[in-house]
Amino acid sequence: MAVLGIDVGGSGIKGALVDVESGEFLAERVRIPTPSPGNPDQVIEVIRRIVDEFEWDGKIGVGFPGVVRRGVIYTAANVSHEWIGEDLAALITNVTGCQAVVLNDADAAGLAEMRFGEGKRYENDYVLFLTVGTGIGSALFVQGKLWPNSELGHLQVRGRDAEHRAGDGVRQEKDLSWKSWGKKLQEVLFVYDNLLSPDAIIIGGGVSKKFKKYARYLKGIHAEILPAALRNQAGIIGAAMAAEESLIID
Ligand code: BGC
Repeated sequence: MAVLGIDVGGSGIKGALVDVESGEFLAERVRIPTPSPGNPDQVIEVIRRIVDEFEWDGKIGVGFPGVVRRGVIYTAANVSHEWIGEDLAALITNVTGCQAVVLNDADAAGLAEMRFGEGKRYENDYVLFLTVGTGIGSALFVQGKLWPNSELGHLQVRGRDAEHRAGDGVRQEKDLSWKSWGKKLQEVLFVYDNLLSPDAIIIGGGVSKKFKKYARYLKGIHAEILPAALRNQAGIIGAAMAAEESLIID
């Protein structure tokens, strides 16, 4: 079954046709830079272009970097605040005529990782999946079921949002070594581990492929820590899965 998956990010909006049974892309992914400041009109226009590009008229799944309930955006930490209160699912349907399901971007990526990536090994366990990019996104899985909108990137760690302590944006801005940054990530994971006692913490996002460079600094954490198997496609695949199946409890 093909579904159009779209991942809305602060710098780019990516879409691909996904075979939701296999998790494979059916055609090359499209990426369009997010127009600044990324307000609803601008983002909807990009989504419309992606739908046109694929000449799509089926279901659409969309991952968005904020709290999403029943298609409505409740928070927008790293994107335009004009999004708050907007019903993104309804806007997409109005503009494209397609049925749309919207969910948090990290929840979407986590769903894909649980089904097609490392999460397969933990389907009977408690899993914390993280996307570590400019922000830190989180998705919690209780024996394979998603608890949506956990937003652990905004949990306070020594008086600051976790994502402002150990997001990859911090590493890049301050040009930190993997050692210095790894120690910051350890501090954040230590808090998550104590709070939730998960069996596994799976690290996704851009830094997952550099895991070997900082893994040794992630000490004193009870959960098994491992890098995600799916790279930056996970958000698109999981959004498509959520549109096809009832993976989000509204
Ligand atoms: C947002 C989350 C999002 C994460 C990754 C955070 O700033 O609050 O909703 O999942 O960034 O994009």
